[in-house]
Amino acid sequence: MLEVKELTKSFGGLIAVNRVSFKAREGGILALIGPNGAGKTTVFNLITGVSHPDEGTILFRGQRINRLQPFQIAALGISRTFQNLELFTNLTVAENVMVGAFRKSRVGFLRSVFRRPGTTKEDHSLYREAMNLLVQLGLAHYADQPAGNLPFGQQRLLEIARALATQPQILLLDEPAAGLNPNESRELAVFLRTLVNQGYTLILVEHDMETVMSLADEVVVMNFGTVLASGVPAEVQQNTEVIAAYLGDEEEEAC
Ligand SMILES: Nc1ncnc2c1ncn2[C@@H]1O[C@H](COP(=O)(O)OP(=O)(O)O)[C@@H](O)[C@H]1O
Ligand SMILES: [Mg+2]
Repeated sequence: MLEVKELTKSFGGLIAVNRVSFKAREGGILALIGPNGAGKTTVFNLITGVSHPDEGTILFRGQRINRLQPFQIAALGISRTFQNLELFTNLTVAENVMVGAFRKSRVGFLRSVFRRPGTTKEDHSLYREAMNLLVQLGLAHYADQPAGNLPFGQQRLLEIARALATQPQILLLDEPAAGLNPNESRELAVFLRTLVNQGYTLILVEHDMETVMSLADEVVVMNFGTVLASGVPAEVQQNTEVIAAYLGDEEEEAC
């Protein structure tokens, strides 16, 4: 469904992503793992058009998307969440989700958010869609509160709700469990599984090995910008280079 081939991106002298290739299968969960600085977020930025690769190709359903702008890529059905949350903290929880839904709406975003006259029908459908998502994520009772008031774990979930509001086919999640307690992580894993059952395809950047190994059906391990190993979780777990990369990283406590 999504294929990256020989993707390369440098920042000054640093090669952040170096000839990275992998394929995300439709209806699957692919985990992109690796120590801090391995290049995982940069790969997400390249796929979503935040930056463009120096070399290589990104194919979505066979279409080359390398040179498209973020909004064009979102319109094709690729959505993401951010490692550092990017919510509108002064807007309500429901409004944050409506921002995600905005591109499908015929009325302007500001008019629909601020409920100007003449937009009521669109307003209501956007609001209803937002509420549906908030119910799924257990956030409905926060709907009218400023997003900035939510506990951190719920803010992470809200980012996922907002990404889902764009009605993506593929969802890229950058460390969705970071900062969650073990209970919240497990609930998140269950929810991500239900998304896949609903037909979504997921690519997940995640540090928590338990989450990765229980969820992913394919794992790509990056280190220093390159792909160190890839395969099913059990395979990758046995890979000695992978073990070394992680043990080295743990000693430095970089994760
Ligand atoms: N916009 C940027 N400008 C300069 N260097 C960057 C930029 N984005 C990422 N990097 C560098 O690229 C490397 C990979 O970063 P990143 O993709 O964020 O890694 P990860 O998400 O795996 O922790 C790091 O060394 C980082 O400092
Ligand atoms: Mg990152």
